[in-house]
Amino acid sequence: MADPYSDLGAQDTALQERIATAMEVRCLEPAQIAIRKAYMENLRLPKGARALELGSGTGHVTRDLLELAGAATAHGIEPSPVMVARAQKSFGDDDRLSFDIGDAKNTGFESETFDLVLMHTLLCHVPGPEDVVQEAFRLLKPGGVLAICDGDYSTATAQIADFDPLDQLIKFMINQNVTNLWIMRQISGILVDAGFQLGARKGHGYVAEGEATYFLTVIERGAERMVEEGLLFSETAEALKSEAKRRVSAKMFFGFMSYVSQIANKPKIV
Ligand SMILES: C[S@@+](CC[C@H](N)C(=O)[O-])C[C@H]1O[C@@H](n2cnc3c(N)ncnc32)[C@H](O)[C@@H]1O
Repeated sequence: MADPYSDLGAQDTALQERIATAMEVRCLEPAQIAIRKAYMENLRLPKGARALELGSGTGHVTRDLLELAGAATAHGIEPSPVMVARAQKSFGDDDRLSFDIGDAKNTGFESETFDLVLMHTLLCHVPGPEDVVQEAFRLLKPGGVLAICDGDYSTATAQIADFDPLDQLIKFMINQNVTNLWIMRQISGILVDAGFQLGARKGHGYVAEGEATYFLTVIERGAERMVEEGLLFSETAEALKSEAKRRVSAKMFFGFMSYVSQIANKPKIV
């Protein structure tokens, strides 16, 4: 099965709901909030700044554009109707926030509309990320800011010892759910080719904490996908899910992945 996030609006509703729940869980984890804070603060936006999130999912990161980056308004576009409905349900009361179904490669907005464009864990799912970067360049005002953050997916692990079977589930899920594992190692060149000036690049280590809620969703979805693909019998999948939960309750669970953020500017004179 190809990366379902790359065409989420076309997946069945149950899968979209399941992924939306996992994204909400991830958005709310303190360690994930800390990563977003680390690269969104100090973006130095002008007063009254208009921001856009491409691939806005459940809308939590779009709201960060107000709370952490200091934008005056923020809009999210996202192809999955389930995601857009969740974002509208969670944040529809805030008239500074709006969400629509749309495609990051072809947003339909006028050129030079936004002061800030954000892509948070979007580009790893998009075949042809150059097209999204070019659309962001078109949408930004001269001097506008592009903020990109994505996983450095080859670093994802749940391994606590040699030959740990749980780690195979993580590797399998990354292989199944990510289109380009290497996007944050390639992004600088893509940005320069599109005309951007590079700003700060930072690494962010994510270690699953407490109940490891998000990592457990990855393990559960991975075990079930292995059954669907005929790699495991369902009893074995259930045993691996139990192993992960037992590790959490015995304080033996370890989950880790690096994220990388890159800030860039559209030159003031293009
Ligand atoms: C991993 S989720 C991240 C959602 C949100 N940014 C967050 O961090 O919670 C990736 C999102 O990108 C969306 N996406 C994938 N391809 C897209 C495209 N071409 N245009 C806009 N969004 C896209 C998916 O539907 C999905 O909701």
